[in-house]
Amino acid sequence: MINLGILIGPKGRGSNLLAIANACRSGQIGASIHVVVSPVSGSEAVAKATEKALPVKVVTPSSTNYAKELLASLDGCDFVCLAGYMRLLPAEVLHAFPNRVLNIHPALLPKFGGKGMFGNHVHEAVIEAGESESGCTVHFVSDKYDEGEIILQRHCPVLPSDTIETLAARVLIEEHLAYPEAIQKVIEAL
Ligand code: GRF
Repeated sequence: MINLGILIGPKGRGSNLLAIANACRSGQIGASIHVVVSPVSGSEAVAKATEKALPVKVVTPSSTNYAKELLASLDGCDFVCLAGYMRLLPAEVLHAFPNRVLNIHPALLPKFGGKGMFGNHVHEAVIEAGESESGCTVHFVSDKYDEGEIILQRHCPVLPSDTIETLAARVLIEEHLAYPEAIQKVIEAL
């Protein structure tokens, strides 16, 4: 069985975590979640992980041994999936999982990516640019924000009436389909 480590962020909602967990349980993904790693003990994402009886480890980014502790928390994992993780991943982790760290971004990369392009900033930029289409991208993680090889994208329209919130909600529906599909694609390519 393939083991997944899921890295979430400090304010994670955990909706992608949930989509991945459900896809593992239904058999859509031939893997299981080995560990959920969070920078905080209290967040919506941690609550969702606990509800699903998934093991949660808290690793604090301010720790002087952060990279080592993060790596240790991922012991036994075959792949690492970032789901709301906001930082550049320490080099030690990238080296330990070559081409085995995935991320999901709420836009069609390479557009609307890079440092500072997260959450609603992305959807605001898409609307301001007058795009007629947005979507999400699952990609391998490199040492630069949002620049690794693209695994797959899903598209959705941007409507003239869209607000940041309505667009974010439409993109999120695509994210929950894209992430499980991309993980399974990568596993099948092994
Ligand atoms: C998602 O929008 C994802 O694209 C981005 O972080 C957000 C995480 O949302 N990388 P959730 O915690 O999975 O609901």
